[in-house]
Amino acid sequence: MLSSRYSFVVLTLFSVLLTRAYGLPKVRPIYDIQPRKTVEAHNKIRAEVGVAPLVWNKTVAAYAQRFANRQAKAGVCDYGSMKHSGGPYGENIAAGWVQPEDQMSGPIAAKYWYTEKPNYDYATNKCKDVCGHYTQMVANQSFSLGCGSFRCHDNELIYIVCDYYPMPVGDEHTRPY
Ligand SMILES: *[C@@H]1O[C@H](CO)[C@@H](O)[C@H](O)[C@H]1NC(C)=O
Ligand SMILES: *[C@@H]1O[C@H](CO)[C@@H](O)[C@H](O)[C@H]1NC(C)=O
Repeated sequence: MLSSRYSFVVLTLFSVLLTRAYGLPKVRPIYDIQPRKTVEAHNKIRAEVGVAPLVWNKTVAAYAQRFANRQAKAGVCDYGSMKHSGGPYGENIAAGWVQPEDQMSGPIAAKYWYTEKPNYDYATNKCKDVCGHYTQMVANQSFSLGCGSFRCHDNELIYIVCDYYPMPVGDEHTRPY
């Protein structure tokens, strides 16, 4: 009797240790955000249209991460169901599943937002199709950015939130550059 109880305790302890060692770890946001590469990706895209580079802004990044944490806590995990934070910054959001190539991250989000470039018509300052993520990236009224991230569905779905300071004007009379 005593020995079987003993083995149960040992097994329990063992499984707790196994979970600690091999259980699904919480992915650190910074791993998905990749600040340096995210800034570089934005600045390459801005340089194409002669707009000055952005710098990383820790205050803005902390804001974006707090928003990401709130979304994660609220379980906002449906693809496309996420709303904007409604804060004082410009904001782009992207989501994507874990995959072998082009897995969602700060730089990959920038790459996807960049695909909207052909939709922006500079002459009329209008979007032929969705182009607001692109125009935010190249807006010369923004000097800095910061991003946050969270994962859902057992770490399989990655959300990236980038905020831009100052928020660009973005009306019909004001071109991004
Ligand atoms: C970063 O953001 C804060 C808060 O919005 C702002 O006051 C500060 O000037 C920004 N820094 C840069 C380098 O843009
Ligand atoms: C930003 O773009 C606008 C519109 O073309 C231009 O009038 C303005 O001078 C630009 N500002 C900077 C800082 O480049």
